[in-house]
Amino acid sequence: MTERVDVHLDALTGLNAGMNARESVSCGSASGDNTFYLETFGCQMNAHDSEKVAGVLLGRGYRQVETIDAARLVLYNTCSIREKAAQKIYSRLGAYQKYPGDEKIIGVLGCLAQQEGEDIFERSPWVRLVCGSASYSKLPDLIEELERGNRRVMGLDKDTDATFETEITRRDNPFRAYLTIIEGCDKACSYCVVPFTRGPERSRSSASVLEETRRLADAGYSEIQLLGQTVNSYRDSSPRRMSFAELLVEVAAVPGIRRVRFTTSHPRDFGRDIVEAIDAVPGLCDHIHLPVQSGSTRVLRSMLRTYTREEYLEKIAMIREARRPISVTSDIIVGFPGETDEDVEETLSLLDVAQYDGVYAFQYSPRPNTSAQHMPDAIPEEEKGRRLARVLDRQREIQIVRNEALVGETFEVLVDGASRRAGQWAGHSSSNRILNFTSPQPGLLGQYVQVRVTRSAPNSLVGEHVV
Ligand code: SAH
Ligand code: SF4
Ligand code: F3S
Repeated sequence: MTERVDVHLDALTGLNAGMNARESVSCGSASGDNTFYLETFGCQMNAHDSEKVAGVLLGRGYRQVETIDAARLVLYNTCSIREKAAQKIYSRLGAYQKYPGDEKIIGVLGCLAQQEGEDIFERSPWVRLVCGSASYSKLPDLIEELERGNRRVMGLDKDTDATFETEITRRDNPFRAYLTIIEGCDKACSYCVVPFTRGPERSRSSASVLEETRRLADAGYSEIQLLGQTVNSYRDSSPRRMSFAELLVEVAAVPGIRRVRFTTSHPRDFGRDIVEAIDAVPGLCDHIHLPVQSGSTRVLRSMLRTYTREEYLEKIAMIREARRPISVTSDIIVGFPGETDEDVEETLSLLDVAQYDGVYAFQYSPRPNTSAQHMPDAIPEEEKGRRLARVLDRQREIQIVRNEALVGETFEVLVDGASRRAGQWAGHSSSNRILNFTSPQPGLLGQYVQVRVTRSAPNSLVGEHVV
């Protein structure tokens, strides 16, 4: 998931990032310097949390700046899904030793903050704010404490029922709006920090989701991406008790909304009603991200994923039976403790059967507070690397063939990127394929256009605007 966000934001380089921000006038900073810098790591949920944090700060009179040097308040919204992600953040924090005294206020937000807690103060004494995502509703108060001169403040409470809804969310992407419908995770995959770092599962009411969708449509958004670590485990907390599939249909019916995406779906809670909704409602995007993690039932059991290879493949078969072709993508972990060569073969053969349009594959990384952390039969790092390469190679072959078959097809694309070269554009299809295309027309950003595929690459398509 990490990579997916980066790719998307890259495509937007140069666009007005603060389009939806409401400027505010008064500033609460004691020093009079009201600048903040915010850097985000991790998944789309983190990216969206950062949009809310920025909204809160803008509402309090802060001004966002693009460089650390220009900022008084420096915030990192962090990820701890794998060891490397955590190391990257500690190395960023290490850079602050060079700043004397209180020149800057450094804050750590997000999953690493929740995971490490007070230890962050020990390891990086210049950090003054540590706050996990389950406590963001308290963030404005915490920042106020810092402004009043408190040396260190922490928000690590996970018992909160409150979702972090703000009056102002400063959205980065002017075309696709993220909207969290369910926070936290109640699954207990043995490798994963998320249930610990984001707390228990809690869903927003359907009324609140629909209300925000209407506001987004009024603000000019036509594409909504509903977010949740297990988005399809959604349980309406209001008396309407809408199912996830019903909510999808209602969100797509909001006037002005043209596309609705959702991520990430958990295979266990993935029912036929979701496929039927996609079949029935053209506004529901024909793309499902359905992470499998492994093709071996034995490994899946050890990962506590709660489904077998066969049960997973039944879900894929159900998706393939849809009247509309639906693009499917997945996540895979290689090198889980005890994974054998046969298990790897099973993952490779699952790739052949599932025929994904994209896969994010990762080397297993043991994480604190997870049940797999001390499992025996660890796989050596070099071997994990070899297994990762095998998975990526096999998937690349599959994507070459799948994408070649799309040459000559026409896709509707939401244009969300412009190249520096004149006449070159980029956009996403409903199936979430990236299309780079040429057009004689100017000013296409934010428009829906028809693009015919002329060439294919493993990870993207090249085409031309059908005028
Ligand atoms: N909620 C999503 C995934 C969230 S994390 C789901 O259930 O599918 C995104 C991906 O990171 C996971 O799908 C998994 O493939 C990977 N991941 C999570 N923990 C990991 C770990 N300890 N080591 C390596 N990859 C991991
Ligand atoms: Fe992690 Fe599993 Fe929850 Fe996904 S479903 S966030 S992998 S515990
Ligand atoms: Fe997301 Fe990373 Fe946290 S993937 S939920 S930011 S651990």
